[in-house]
Amino acid sequence: MSRSAHPAGPRYADVLSEGHYAAPPADLNRLDPKVWSRTVGRDADGVATVAGIPVTHLAEQFGTPAYILDVDDFRARCRAWAEAFGKDADVFYAGKAFLSRAVVRWLTEEGLNLDVCSGGELSTALSAGMPAERIAFHGNNKSTDEIRRAVEAGVGRIVLDSFQEIARVAHLAQSLGKRQRVQIRVTVGVEAHTHEFIATAHEDQKFGIALAGGQAAEAVRRALNLDGLELIGIHSHIGSQIFDMAGFEVSARRVVQLLAEIRDEHGVELPEIDLGGGLGIAYTSDDDPREPHHIAKALTEIVTRECEAAGLRTPRISVEPGRAIVGPTAFTLYEVGTVKPLEGLRTYVSVDGGMSDNIRTALYDAEYSVALVSRRSDAEPMLTRVVGKHCESGDIIVRDAFLPADVAPGDLLAVPATGAYCRSMASNYNHALRPPVVAVQGGAARVVVRRETEEDLLRLDVG
Ligand code: LLP
Repeated sequence: MSRSAHPAGPRYADVLSEGHYAAPPADLNRLDPKVWSRTVGRDADGVATVAGIPVTHLAEQFGTPAYILDVDDFRARCRAWAEAFGKDADVFYAGKAFLSRAVVRWLTEEGLNLDVCSGGELSTALSAGMPAERIAFHGNNKSTDEIRRAVEAGVGRIVLDSFQEIARVAHLAQSLGKRQRVQIRVTVGVEAHTHEFIATAHEDQKFGIALAGGQAAEAVRRALNLDGLELIGIHSHIGSQIFDMAGFEVSARRVVQLLAEIRDEHGVELPEIDLGGGLGIAYTSDDDPREPHHIAKALTEIVTRECEAAGLRTPRISVEPGRAIVGPTAFTLYEVGTVKPLEGLRTYVSVDGGMSDNIRTALYDAEYSVALVSRRSDAEPMLTRVVGKHCESGDIIVRDAFLPADVAPGDLLAVPATGAYCRSMASNYNHALRPPVVAVQGGAARVVVRRETEEDLLRLDVG
């Protein structure tokens, strides 16, 4: 763990992180389709292009750093998920990964639903025309105002996360003369194999109501008895950036078990289960994520088998992928500012962004790839660390990266697979200005979230 103390500082004394590739890739100019969005390639001059546009043009027009989002890839991934799950299941895109009004419009057109987890995400969704009945509202501590707005808008479901919330939503719905469709989020007791900060189904954490000790059964009892609520199903989300289906299998089995107990106790067969999101993507060439149709097949088989064994009708399944849809569709474009060789160690390459536009490396020890994209280079591979411009030595974007040894100020670098949880977790640390999101499609580029300005910062500071 990088958070444990070390006399020389946490981990930064390492030359190469443990377990990371020790040898440079065979071809530094290659842009591995596993980690780059679908329309990325290199033109005859060796400049990387996306949707047919050279990245050098994007940098000139929009500046750096910038998130470049490949619209065709985003929409193709939405379709792949929708088709894989078919008409008897629902795909909810998890807006926390990245949400903007353009994203909402693409989702709406592609027939996806949307999971929101705050009033801000709700208003973005509604303002861009997502029908309220296609919205699920999540969160472990929704405010009364957020609940009221969700109920008034007529969201398709609120996912209840605590006993207090069961009472709160029931009361608010009733006082508005409504019966709110709800699911109960349960904690199934699975240890997902992922970073501890993004694992969510083991017992000692803040989300959901535990299956253990009859807590979830009690929550169901209460929800079924409240006039303001229509309990439509059970929800489980086990964590994020998971490759192994075993955790989902255990989770599905335990949720189905609960459905059987509910049938036995109340004579009610709940019609839906939601297995959450969390499917992993490739950040480096070493990662092997599953395709949506594999995931759909595996989850559907597990649920169907377990329901048959319990003598239950198979409920409608929903899933909530965020990262797996938007993650691979964007890269961050940076300009190199300084190159600092450290004798016997490595070379530090500083770019014009950093932990304010990608906190994931600092927060989760996330691994990323990086490439020189403004030109091709035949120089030897050089071990580098790609860092930002913040006042912190942990301001690392790519911990161990091989770049051509002639990398120099003015070169453009791009970090792929930054579509999820980078812009949405971006900050103004050091009064950095959050980069724009530029959507590219069929040779055209347009800003969908503009770059922040110093004026934006000063407007919030009332003096
Ligand atoms: N459903 C629920 C209830 C969730 O809490 C989440 C993510 C998702 C779906 C979507 O998970 P995904 O498919 O995107 O993995 N900031 C972290 C990830 C936190 C995820 C929070 N919840 C990261 O950058 O890795």
